[in-house]
Amino acid sequence: MSLSLDKSYFEGMFEDADFSTADELKKYAYDKVLKRDGEGAVMLGWAELPKNYDRDEIKRIRNISKEIRSKCDAFILIGIGGSYLGTRAGVDFIKSSFYNSFAKDTPKIYYLGNNVSTDYISAVLEECKDKEVCVNVISKSGTTAEPAISFLLVNDFMLKKYGEAAYSRIYVTTDPQKGTMLDFANKHGCTKFSVPSDIGGRYSVLTPVGLLPLAVCGCDIDAILAGAYKAYQKYYQGGIDNNDALYLAFARYFLGEKGRCLELFTSYEPDICNFTAWCCQLFGESEGKDGKGMFPSPAVFSTDLHSLGQYIQDGRRTMIETAIYIENPNDKIKIPNDLAVDGLDYLRGKDLSDINNYILKAAATAHKDANVPTFIIRVDKKDEENFGMLVYFLELVCAFTAYMLKVNPFNQPGVEAYKNYMYRFLGKNK
Ligand code: PA5
Repeated sequence: MSLSLDKSYFEGMFEDADFSTADELKKYAYDKVLKRDGEGAVMLGWAELPKNYDRDEIKRIRNISKEIRSKCDAFILIGIGGSYLGTRAGVDFIKSSFYNSFAKDTPKIYYLGNNVSTDYISAVLEECKDKEVCVNVISKSGTTAEPAISFLLVNDFMLKKYGEAAYSRIYVTTDPQKGTMLDFANKHGCTKFSVPSDIGGRYSVLTPVGLLPLAVCGCDIDAILAGAYKAYQKYYQGGIDNNDALYLAFARYFLGEKGRCLELFTSYEPDICNFTAWCCQLFGESEGKDGKGMFPSPAVFSTDLHSLGQYIQDGRRTMIETAIYIENPNDKIKIPNDLAVDGLDYLRGKDLSDINNYILKAAATAHKDANVPTFIIRVDKKDEENFGMLVYFLELVCAFTAYMLKVNPFNQPGVEAYKNYMYRFLGKNK
């Protein structure tokens, strides 16, 4: 397992004098996280999690994931935002974005609760109608409308399919103290998991929120936590000097101050697309406050080099790029030496992984030439340990930058605005 930050497509773009506040701000942000005296510090539970996690709870997750695997071939996960994206990112990263096609000894996974599309929900229920089904409904607050809507429909589907036995197939992950989902689980005797009260949604993938479904899909959750612990030792306990989480946090802060307002989270692997979507939630919801922060947007290369690439190279100079690059694919493919197509000699015998590497180098060089810096987070390979390490590294980067920006990294007051209108339109009483 390894993670490193390649700064070569940023370094040299600015004068050393521009970084005069770096040491002071790095120390400020590091202290805010470690001493827990910044805004929202009560929600820093995730920071010590790789060391302090509840070992008995992990054992219980492992056992119940086996029970779920033995009971079903379709696993419906209901959740939105932090109660959904981390799991989806993990399944694709560790297993594959083709997970459902390859799943043999583990159930297929279906995601609900993240939209209210009639056609999507009806397609999932149609897919599941002749399968053995288990459900994991995840909502920390237990009140979010979109997962509640899917849950009402799925609960009805399950009761029609299994009668009262449905409740032994519904697993509830929610606040341990209060909420609609907790009341439901208690009333019907469903198996419950707790979202720790000091960990918010987008920082919760290493809790039962992400670990239960990832274990159901056959991921080694101990290895995920071991990877997170490695990052914890290096970037949390490791001090301020030579700390790449602080380096990236400051560079992002600095570029924002220089007027950059859009951050592309890029990958060179379709299996990482949902990981970059998780990044967008983490950074967007944590930093986008008080008129600050960069707008995060996902992109997958080469696909988007042939669409967004034009804008990146030639459009408004307001962008930066943070690439997540997997160094070693799980497989090896070489282009045949005896080419059946004339005119493509330059590709003869080449390894696809080497070509992808050249594309990364070409894009980062061209974009740097056009005044768009790229930070490359180089990750050894797509497995559990690297997933845990990357998640924890980015959570730290995010908290550090948010403290540099002087915003609370752990709230999301802006999300309430649309909810208030929605509830008003739906006639919900306060
Ligand atoms: O990061 C967050 O807190 C949010 O994205 C939440 O995860 C999201 O709104 C879902 O909330 P809940 O789990 O309470 O349904």
